[in-house]
Amino acid sequence: MDSFIPLCKADELPIGEMKAFTVGNRRILLANVSGTYYAMDGECTHECGYLDEGDLEEDTVVCPIHFARFSIITGKVLEGPAEEDAVCYKVEVRNGTVFVSFK
Ligand code: FES
Repeated sequence: MDSFIPLCKADELPIGEMKAFTVGNRRILLANVSGTYYAMDGECTHECGYLDEGDLEEDTVVCPIHFARFSIITGKVLEGPAEEDAVCYKVEVRNGTVFVSFK
């Protein structure tokens, strides 16, 4: 069964913005794309750039270090130099709070 952990209130993260959260020893990136929330690992799979310090262009996250591009929806690398896809996490909004599941 999935165990969901609360990250923030949904209205704390406006459409088009993303933010990092520390959960245990993980850095999790949460993004609001057109009112839907998506979560994935917050460190770039290339050389661990902090993705929340990059840009969110619609559903694409751009790493601030060497500008790799990832889909926030699937975690897939859209453009290198990163080669490894990012891990995505299941997100649910319940009563105005955003939860993420790590399995
Ligand atoms: S650290 Fe992200 S592209 Fe190099």
